[in-house]
Amino acid sequence: MRRSSFRIVAAVAAIALAVTGCSSSSDEAANEDTEFEIFTWWAFGGEAAGLQGMIDVYTAQNPNIEFINAAGAGAGVNAKAVLKSRLDANEPPDSFQAHVGMELDDYVRGGQLEDLTSLYVSEGWDKVFQADLIKTLTVDGKIYSVPVNIHRANVLWWNPATATKAGVTKAPETLDEFFADLEKFKKAGVTGLALAGKGDWAIAHLLDWMLLASMGADKFEGLYKGSTSWTGPEVATALKNFQKALAYGNKGAGNLDWPDAGKLVTSGKAGFFIMGDWASAQWQSDGLALGTDYTFAAAPGTVGVYQWLSDSFTLPVSAPHRNAAIAWLKVCGSQAGQDAFNPKKGSISARTDADLSKYDDYLKSASADWSKDRLVGSTVHGVNGNNAHMAAYSAAVGKYFSGGFKDNAGFAKDLAAAYEAGKA
Ligand code: GAL
Repeated sequence: MRRSSFRIVAAVAAIALAVTGCSSSSDEAANEDTEFEIFTWWAFGGEAAGLQGMIDVYTAQNPNIEFINAAGAGAGVNAKAVLKSRLDANEPPDSFQAHVGMELDDYVRGGQLEDLTSLYVSEGWDKVFQADLIKTLTVDGKIYSVPVNIHRANVLWWNPATATKAGVTKAPETLDEFFADLEKFKKAGVTGLALAGKGDWAIAHLLDWMLLASMGADKFEGLYKGSTSWTGPEVATALKNFQKALAYGNKGAGNLDWPDAGKLVTSGKAGFFIMGDWASAQWQSDGLALGTDYTFAAAPGTVGVYQWLSDSFTLPVSAPHRNAAIAWLKVCGSQAGQDAFNPKKGSISARTDADLSKYDDYLKSASADWSKDRLVGSTVHGVNGNNAHMAAYSAAVGKYFSGGFKDNAGFAKDLAAAYEAGKA
């Protein structure tokens, strides 16, 4: 089962070594292990390309280790279920992907991860990682994973040619402007909003933005602190806006995953797409050009707010190839590893010393926004809620969406119950 996933054999190590110029004996202990398995949901396109960038650095440094990449697509929805069954059966991979925040907290509280604090000290990461990340990562004074990036969830993407055709001349900054532009697309015979309903999470991602855009950062954070009610007036307004936006979506969205929905925008069939910045990496891996084929802005109603998430790698308790895993984590935390990964993954580095000359104009602007914007966590990508909350939240959104987005009061109750499920 574990071996059915595709493998990257270290035979490419010599080439990668020449590319990176790294020494082949960076971690002597790792040489005792002959294989290493990671678990991610980066199986295709820009996501796979980003991961491969980091794998190349690893195989150059650890040429005798066979790299096994157990990847399953879909923003973690399926991957996390498979991971859970492996962890429950005490058959962990050597390292797995987990979002910084409450998602990671789940594994920490479950006693499933090793404490990596000493690695932070020996590698000097306590000084070079973004301070806000270190703060979120620290659980009772200890750190249990290595963040490889920071993604932005609240990004609006569109195709300049389609916008011009519809008379949309600038990025909508407010929800009112957004709805006015959706009308313009409609009049021009273009679907206003590209939706991906397969697996529920991308519609839940849209809701996460709409809640933030409709009620502002303080009230939004209150949803996860218990000070904003899920059945109160702020959520009711947000759900009305959500309902209104969904009505501008494409038909048949239930069959589309996010890369397919994104293609509606780049091919001129849809106006706007609200998606995390991995979309840009995906399009570039398809050969499209930023600025010409697609462009971006902060999602309407959230200008000046950075809704963030961060992917990190862990060391599970009982990892069969622990030394190989530690060598991997060292690559994950290194400047070389992060600068090989992030420009292709469409994210900014989790370190403060990234070589920005390797990053495109979108990522340079994201990097500037990260240091000046108000930071707010993503719900769908693990910051605000644990796995139980996220699963129930996405299921509630799926039910509402597949039911034709009609029953807002019932939806609010389901979202309130999802929040409670996270506390149970
Ligand atoms: C997120 C993940 C991103 C990207 C996205 C879409 O959960 O953090 O790195 O993979 O899913 O697949």
